[in-house]
Amino acid sequence: MPAARRAALKAHAPYSHFRVGAAVRCSNGEIVEGCNVENASYGLSICAERVALFSAVARGLQPKELAVSCLDAPSVGPDGLRMPCGACRQVMLELMPGEATVHIDGVGSRRLAELLPDAFSLVADDDRQ
Ligand code: THU
Repeated sequence: MPAARRAALKAHAPYSHFRVGAAVRCSNGEIVEGCNVENASYGLSICAERVALFSAVARGLQPKELAVSCLDAPSVGPDGLRMPCGACRQVMLELMPGEATVHIDGVGSRRLAELLPDAFSLVADDDRQ
């Protein structure tokens, strides 16, 4: 979680002012960080979780576990303000096993399959890497 919190400080979020950091622990023990990067053309923005996951893949690493921290979420407020978005959950499930743990700052830890039940998939569960 410290790495996710640290990564959030690098967020480029001039539109939402909602800084998010993520950190992925990979099978070799390396930790890869990501932050949200927004764009004036709003739809081009990307979440912290996907930046971290894609960076890990680009470095040839295998993501195993993920932490996410929403730096600007109010300390009192609904958990939804801290939860990973649906798109990121789908990407997580593409790149990590359903048993992978997702640590959500201020909320707790969840199994990935619990965060995205009945996920869309083009391959049978048994065939997933
Ligand atoms: N955001 C993330 O980085 N991760 C999520 O799971 C949810 C939302 C970012 C996207 C956008 O830059 C800002 O938070 C507000 O939606």
